[in-house]
Amino acid sequence: MSLELSPEVFVIFAALVEEAAGIHYRLEDRELLQGKLAARAVEAGFDSLLDYYYYLRYDPDSAEERQELIDSLVVNESYLFREQRQLRYIASEILAPAVDAGRTPRVWSAACAAGEEPLGLAMMLAERGILGRVELVASDISRRALARARRGELSRRALRDVAEPGLVTRWVERSDRGGIVRPSLLGHVDFRQVNLTDAEAVRRLGTFDVILCRNVLIYFSDELQRRVVQLLLERLEPEGTLWVGISESLMRLEPYVTCEERQGLLFYRAGVR
Ligand SMILES: C[S@@+](CC[C@H](N)C(=O)[O-])C[C@H]1O[C@@H](n2cnc3c(N)ncnc32)[C@H](O)[C@@H]1O
Repeated sequence: MSLELSPEVFVIFAALVEEAAGIHYRLEDRELLQGKLAARAVEAGFDSLLDYYYYLRYDPDSAEERQELIDSLVVNESYLFREQRQLRYIASEILAPAVDAGRTPRVWSAACAAGEEPLGLAMMLAERGILGRVELVASDISRRALARARRGELSRRALRDVAEPGLVTRWVERSDRGGIVRPSLLGHVDFRQVNLTDAEAVRRLGTFDVILCRNVLIYFSDELQRRVVQLLLERLEPEGTLWVGISESLMRLEPYVTCEERQGLLFYRAGVR
């Protein structure tokens, strides 16, 4: 039984994972990756990580297991009102004025986990009476997270940091495990499975006034971050804005992106092409 991850097998596995999902593991993350791979390999009936690797790499029937592996590697941690000052600014300063001007703005939550981010924004739009006037697309690579999103399942952790409990009471049916989002809100979000490293799939989504790509680029290598950001910028309308997490920054990518600040919040637009 060889569920050890030698440095050599680490290198080929890390390359496979990066190709499949963009997630970049450094050699110092070897133990972390080993734990996750071993658990998945055993579940799939393998007793050697090298055999598991060959199966994933070369077996034409391995697509299902690849997806299972991706689901077990991604971190779906999120909550409804995470970094909510950004969401409030987007709702009141970008989307409400666009609706007032007679447009139907489009928003893309590009790594939506189990839907917490787009659903939090949807609640803010509903509060302003403009939910039906904004198109909300939300995507993630994780099939498991998307299945929960489509069922409207929110964990207890997803419901933390709620500044206005009335909002949640209105849209979420509380349950032992957290809550279930009411269909009248859920129906406004179009959930899709999209891998951000898949340029064609990203292009098929069309163009957007606002793209949220928060707390996911950190898992990618610098080179892939650059490519994904470029792809996202191409998907912006001329006046569109790209938002990353508050602890992330795209300033190093200037002049290809330009950074703006409003009310202490940073966001990005396409710069020099
Ligand atoms: C930490 S969560 C962030 C969720 C939310 N945007 C937020 O800020 O709370 C990261 C999400 O990125 C997704 N993800 C990781 N790699 C991805 C990829 N290549 N394409 C699309 N989504 C990806 C994961 O499945 C996970 O749901």
